[in-house]
Formats: sequence, C-alpha cells, structure tokens
Amino acid sequence: MNSSANEKIIAIDGPAGSGKSTIAKALAKRLNLEYLDTGAMYRAVAFLSLQQSEETRDDQRVLEVAEEMDFNFTDGICVVNGHDVTKEIRSSEVTETVSAVAAMPEVRKEMVKRQRIWVEERGGGVVEGRDIGSVVFPQAKVKVYLTASEEIRAERRIGQEESVDTLGVADSIRKRDEADKGRSTSPLVRSEGAVELDTSLMGVEETVEEILGLFRWN
Ligand code: CDP
Repeated sequence: MNSSANEKIIAIDGPAGSGKSTIAKALAKRLNLEYLDTGAMYRAVAFLSLQQSEETRDDQRVLEVAEEMDFNFTDGICVVNGHDVTKEIRSSEVTETVSAVAAMPEVRKEMVKRQRIWVEERGGGVVEGRDIGSVVFPQAKVKVYLTASEEIRAERRIGQEESVDTLGVADSIRKRDEADKGRSTSPLVRSEGAVELDTSLMGVEETVEEILGLFRWN
C-alpha cells in the first residue's frame, strides 16, 4: 500500500462499549472518509454459522462460511449474501458466539485480507475493531485506543439494546472482553503508537475534537 493511503488510515480499537462505532462514524464524516466496523464482519460470520448449521465450534465449517460470505458494509448498513442483516448481527445469540468465532486464526486471516482490500479500494478509511492498530494496519499514522469504565460501557450498551437486564449486559461484556484479550491470535491490546482515550466522561463531539487535535491531518 502506498504511503498516501497510510496517511488516511485511522485505526480505532478498544473493548466492547468503549464508543468505537459512534466515534468512528463521526470521525469519518468530519474527515470525509468511509468507515468500516470490522466487528460486523465477525458478527456476520457468527450469524451465518448459526443460521446454516448451528455449529460454531467447528473451525473448518466456520471458515467455509467466512470464505463464501459476500459481505458489504456501507454507511453503517451491513448486507450479507444479499440480505440486510444490520439488526440481526446484534442479537444476543450472535453476541454470545462471536468471540469464539473471532478467535479462529484462519477466520481472522480471511477477514484481515478483506479489511485490507476494503481500505485499498478506497485509498483509506476509518477502521474500528480489536486488532486494527496491532495487526491489520500497524503502519497507520493515526491509532486510537478507546476505553471507558465497565459501568459506563454497560450503560451505553443497555441504551442501545433497550435492555433492562443491567447485570446480564455487564456480565456479557466482561466475558467477551476476557475472551478478546486472552486469545492467542490477535488479542485486544493497545498497539504501539496508539493514543489511549478514556471516554467515560466524554461526549461524542468532545472525543472527536480531542482526536482531531492529537494528530496532524495534512
Ligand atoms: O460493538 P462491540 O464493541 O460490542 O463489538 P463488535 O465491534 O461488534 O465486535 C464483536 C466481536 O468481534 C468482538 O467481541 C471480538 O470478539 C470480535 N472482533 C475481533 O475479534 N476483531 C475485530 N477487529 C473486531 C471484532
């Protein structure tokens, strides 16, 4: 990839509920770039695996699903094999299985390949996930690691899902964070050169302004 494309890659990583999608979306708008939610890709693989065989522990089966998947992500709308599954990939069933699917090394290889093509085709973009600054685009000039307290992250998720099961949501987030940080392939980490921002007490606009002020954007 040429260096001008590297200048336009904004890598955003962080745990569940840290605000990655909201910030990535807002930042992309400000910078006139597109944004990619890589979590949606892993969610789509989990969703299809559940739908097709209800078998999400068979690495080979899941890999086949991943390789055959036609995935399209534009303006926050996720279309998989011709169907809009934006809502379905956020179901609790998918949320419970996605970390196991995302821990499969061959599945990750396939997704990373697609993420790099997505950016290459657009000459840059705002990309958010867990391993964007560490594995997918370690050469990115702008890397942000978003965090927030466990309580705030659970509250944000409850707001999005209209769930009232506070303890259940907090527990689910904790388990997923443990799985994502503890896996051997591409665990969630703050990558070298990433600026860490605790967004617990920060609004969306404030966070975007902070990020815009932290880097050079010429
Ligand atoms: O929106 P939320 O932060 O809850 O999660 P997500 O971004 O939709 O990601 C769902 C899951 O996909 C994560 O818990 C990870 O297991 C996995 N994931 C990953 O392994 N690598 C990425 N680059 C993005 C997501």
